[in-house]
Amino acid sequence: MILHGLELQDFRNLQPTRLAFDPAFNLIYGDNGQGKTNLLEAAYLLLCQRSFRAARLGELVRFGSDRGVVRGALQSAGVEHQIQVVLDARGRHTELDGKASRSLSHWPPGFTAVLFTTDDLTAPRGSPADRRRLLDQAVAAVWAAYAELLRRYGRALRARNRLLRERPPGVAALLDAHEPPLASLGAKIVVARQRLLAQLLPRVQAAFARIIGADAPQQVELRYLEGSAPDTPAALPSEDGPGAAEAERLAERLAAGWRRDRARDLARGLTTHGPHSDDLELRLDGRPLRQHASQGQVRALVLAFKVAQILDLHSRSGEYPALLLDDVSSELDALRNRFLHDFLGEVRCQLLLTTARPELVPWRGRGASFEVVRGTVTQREADPGAA
Ligand SMILES: Nc1ncnc2c1ncn2[C@@H]1O[C@H](COP(=O)(O)OP(=O)(O)OP(=O)(O)O)[C@@H](O)[C@H]1O
Ligand SMILES: [Mg+2]
Repeated sequence: MILHGLELQDFRNLQPTRLAFDPAFNLIYGDNGQGKTNLLEAAYLLLCQRSFRAARLGELVRFGSDRGVVRGALQSAGVEHQIQVVLDARGRHTELDGKASRSLSHWPPGFTAVLFTTDDLTAPRGSPADRRRLLDQAVAAVWAAYAELLRRYGRALRARNRLLRERPPGVAALLDAHEPPLASLGAKIVVARQRLLAQLLPRVQAAFARIIGADAPQQVELRYLEGSAPDTPAALPSEDGPGAAEAERLAERLAAGWRRDRARDLARGLTTHGPHSDDLELRLDGRPLRQHASQGQVRALVLAFKVAQILDLHSRSGEYPALLLDDVSSELDALRNRFLHDFLGEVRCQLLLTTARPELVPWRGRGASFEVVRGTVTQREADPGAA
């Protein structure tokens, strides 16, 4: 999949603009706070139909405007497509090839992006929420409707928490009625996360070995940790299982856990356990990465996770996702930068990369360069690092 270009109106701080991207490499550079990440966010919105940093899409509209627009032309499987996203107070209105596309259950599988930010590099040592974000973004790249499932679960969870806090008359019966549907949403989330991890694992292991160097092989594990059942490690879902049966069993287990913990949850006024508190444990040679790995190993593993995602997405749709790198090249040392460079040479995955320090990017001078100054994006001919 190639994003040919973008057209923006009233999107964040960016001036109205029309940009033509290179099919391979796009460098977006400028000082801090100028709008580089905003530009990546516009590309991500177009391809993934959500933001990677705003809780509400309304935040993406320029301050003082009531409507923002992002348009783009892309090519997938040799066919040209147009996407338009209009943002307003009510949310997102998307048209794909001129037809309204409200639900994402039919979003074309090749229209997606893999995002890599400095937050990803700190996630292995950060909070469970950071690691859930890493994982949820990966699931949503494969299954566009997953983001909507997360939102529905979030809404239903807040409703349970309200009951726990406010304890209206008949609260027990209300919780009895509320928990099974909440559990069935939660179970779908857990099954989707576990499935994707199982599918990504061999590719993560292979990419990690290649990045780190194969002379000292190290065993990578990705473990899904369910907070609700710490004594029973989550079994990896079977590849060929129907999924529905698996989700049903898990839903029963979640609902039973909430019934068991109800007195404690009522005392605390919140739902202690569930998919919203689960964690992803990254392990190296049998030990949690969080406590034992070097900074270089952590970076290599996160990079391997992203590379695995790109290859996995390609194996599903025959198309490579766009790779959006926000500010990470100065965080990766030269070796890993070189690996990324070689990898991208092999896979023909379109890259959009932001940096405040273009001189550190080994690809500069190839493809297209864009300078961002106070929201104005200008395409530059010259190599920004060759001063
Ligand atoms: N809805 C909005 N309307 C107008 N301006 C906005 C809006 N949202 C954010 N901004 C502005 O966008 C600017 C930040 O842009 P962005 O995050 O893209 O910077 P950046 O170039 O990536 O910087 P850095 O190098 O520090 O990451 C800030 O000045 C912020 O005030
Ligand atoms: Mg930025």
